[in-house]
Amino acid sequence: MLKLPGLIDPHVHVREPGGTHKEDWATATQTALAGGITTILGMPNTQPPIFDEATLNLSLDSAKDKAHCDYGQYLGAGPDNADIVAGLANKAAGLKMYLDSTFGELRLDDMSLWTPHFQKFPKTFPMVMHSESRTMAAAILFSAIYDHPIHIAHVSLKEEILLIKAAKEKGIKVTCEVCPHHLFLTSDSPLPNLGEGLGVRGRKEVRPRLATQEDVNALWENMNVIDCFATDHAPHTIEEKDSETPPPGFPGLETILPLLLTAVSDSRLTIPDIIQKMHTNPRKIFNLPEQPETWVEVDENETYEIKAENQFTKCGWTPFEGWKVKGKVKKVVLRGKTAFEDGKFLVQAGYGKNVRA
Ligand code: DOR
Ligand code: ZN
Repeated sequence: MLKLPGLIDPHVHVREPGGTHKEDWATATQTALAGGITTILGMPNTQPPIFDEATLNLSLDSAKDKAHCDYGQYLGAGPDNADIVAGLANKAAGLKMYLDSTFGELRLDDMSLWTPHFQKFPKTFPMVMHSESRTMAAAILFSAIYDHPIHIAHVSLKEEILLIKAAKEKGIKVTCEVCPHHLFLTSDSPLPNLGEGLGVRGRKEVRPRLATQEDVNALWENMNVIDCFATDHAPHTIEEKDSETPPPGFPGLETILPLLLTAVSDSRLTIPDIIQKMHTNPRKIFNLPEQPETWVEVDENETYEIKAENQFTKCGWTPFEGWKVKGKVKKVVLRGKTAFEDGKFLVQAGYGKNVRA
């Protein structure tokens, strides 16, 4: 049995409030545990979005009642809430800035709207950027000008990882994460069409989009530039994905670890890489407390097929349907209690703690 520390996913769309038919604080945190993850940080593009004290409390109150693993909640940067979110920084996972197209309304197009956030959000709390391609270059320039650390979400392109590498070499305080779907899938990957109708197109929709094999290769070749692995778990139901207007997003909490462990077994990655990018680095970057007596037990040799029907997420599908993987999460101990074992959840809703409490 392989024993890993409690893993951290800094990028999860919990969907509560407002989208609880897709996922909620109970199912997101259970799904995390089933994937070997003991801390999740929830994104603010909910309905309503999390952008002030009332909406932050709305999410944190639900989480307090329902969470099975530890959690934090991001605030969203809006056009006129820089003072408000700066004042709430110590209660939140960090500030999320949507600088490119996304699901929901939290998008800051005009660069003059970025400035107050860079000036006011405390430097000791993380600022996470959804910024793609040239927008990423602009975000890195802001980081340098205002001397404010930034963390770049879901890097997917060769030009992006090379830019981040160069920025780090210049001493700019930038860190980044990469998602399994950008490491294991390209825009040409055949995704399983499980349902009838429009499945093939809708299931592939994700932001950032799946990229080319050259982009994927560049991510693998620059593994030392990648600080964290994150899922960007963005559940939408099969019906929504197969509709005329499919929303972008993939579920990922239950597949990240088996996919990465399979890469270890294929000698593309090491166990220390996984520990560094899913525990040590995210703990440092997001300023997370230690979880004493916490570990994950994995059967390294168990081989199985990924199937949506065996998953705990509410969304009912996975882009990795049918993939053969090696490495199965058997047991998760969280702060001295067995929280998950052999497919069963063993702690009560509400056991999960707010990382900022
Ligand atoms: O694919 C995505 N899904 N990208 C985003 O930026 C948002 C996310 C979601 O919330 O569904
Ligand atoms: Zn996201």
